[in-house]
Amino acid sequence: MINLNPDFGQVLTPDTVAEMMIKRSLSYLKNKKLSILDPAIGPATFLKAINKLKLNIKNFDGYDIDNRMCIISNEYCSKLKYKNKIFNEDFLLNNNQTFYDFVILNPPYIRQEKLSTEYKKKLKEVLKLRNIKVNGRSNLFIYFLFKCLSKLEKNGILCAIIYDSILNTKYGKEFWDYLSNNFKILEKKSISTPFNKTIIDATIIIVSNQSSSKKFSIENNSKNVRNNYVKLSELLKIQRGITLSSRKVFLSHKNDGDIYKKSLPIIMKPKIKDKLNIEYPDQRFYNFGQDKDVDSFLINKAKSIDIDIKIKPVKLIFGKIIFNYYIRNSPKHYFNSKNLNTSDNFYVSTVKDSFPEIIAFLLLNTELFVNSFLDSSRNQGNGLRKLQVYEYKNTFVPDWRTLSKSELSSLNKCAYSLLIGNKNINQIQFLVNDLLIKSFL
Ligand SMILES: C[S@@+](CC[C@H](N)C(=O)[O-])C[C@H]1O[C@@H](n2cnc3c(N)ncnc32)[C@H](O)[C@@H]1O
Repeated sequence: MINLNPDFGQVLTPDTVAEMMIKRSLSYLKNKKLSILDPAIGPATFLKAINKLKLNIKNFDGYDIDNRMCIISNEYCSKLKYKNKIFNEDFLLNNNQTFYDFVILNPPYIRQEKLSTEYKKKLKEVLKLRNIKVNGRSNLFIYFLFKCLSKLEKNGILCAIIYDSILNTKYGKEFWDYLSNNFKILEKKSISTPFNKTIIDATIIIVSNQSSSKKFSIENNSKNVRNNYVKLSELLKIQRGITLSSRKVFLSHKNDGDIYKKSLPIIMKPKIKDKLNIEYPDQRFYNFGQDKDVDSFLINKAKSIDIDIKIKPVKLIFGKIIFNYYIRNSPKHYFNSKNLNTSDNFYVSTVKDSFPEIIAFLLLNTELFVNSFLDSSRNQGNGLRKLQVYEYKNTFVPDWRTLSKSELSSLNKCAYSLLIGNKNINQIQFLVNDLLIKSFL
């Protein structure tokens, strides 16, 4: 068994899934001798399925950047009777002018942050995507799909298994729009966690190089792709939380004496377990301008520890949806149900257009939105990512204002269960995913 290298996006397709993909594609392939391409061949997973299902083959080309995969595939290919060639090359940078009747692939899934600027620049040049604008935040698998589509003979068929981020990211949606406008989408099938040891759902698409005269309607949910993403700032009024010019001076302590009672609650760094509802402040602070005793207490305290402070009240910021902009793999929004003051460790939001706050809170925690936030965020190293306030405001998310009354009512129930901690976000995700896909994709 070969050790898989995540830097090359190596996730193998199980044989059963590979065979199912070939079988499905067979119904669209004309009964002629086929030229076939697998641009990311790995250990020849698809080629084995192709041979098992006895396709009529003229020639086969495979590519892999990893020499170890090429050795395995070459060994397998050496026994084949038809013309074949395995290229130990970067498929995206290679400039072969060959076209194919059938392209089958499980492209490497590599986030754009892991691709160097230089490499992305090269990709754009070599792919000569003059008329196609590839979103700079695209995952590597999007480049594979674009290039493979350009390698199809007229009426050629492409079959790909792709991670579901194609359905819930802006770049994925742009690709999908391009695909639906220029090719005929024959099948689109969701498949739950097909990859060993990887908890990721995927989608299998089968596409023909023939423009679609009638628009494809998604197999599972019969709705056309809707163009309904907006910037988050259209949906939320977003502010940074309260900045205290000196936490040492302004945060209160129980041993401050009677004056402690005049301090105000604030959410600074609450210990958050599973529940996303923050009901209690974890600190208190003093503000200027409300009480003479507090004002002089603060001035004296600052003097005694020799710290310069601004002698004016800080603007209080309220909002029920709060977001800690330092994130790991899963950005979370919290519900500040008691409308407590919140520190600048958070972005604090109120919901616009009288949209129900708890539904907004639920939606912001679903995969569809979470992936958009991850895409807008920057890597800080050590698994930490950060979203600047302008990046947060400019994140493209589904426009929840387009949801129908009955959709809102189902979401409301789920949001309530999430809020009271009856169900966690994974359980809720499971309940609302279908509805969200139908409504937004
Ligand atoms: C997701 S795996 C799929 C392997 C196999 N087709 C399967 O489905 O089991 C993607 C393969 O693409 C290869 N790969 C990654 N980047 C590549 C590139 N730029 N050009 C060609 N192959 C690449 C990886 O080494 C890996 O073997």
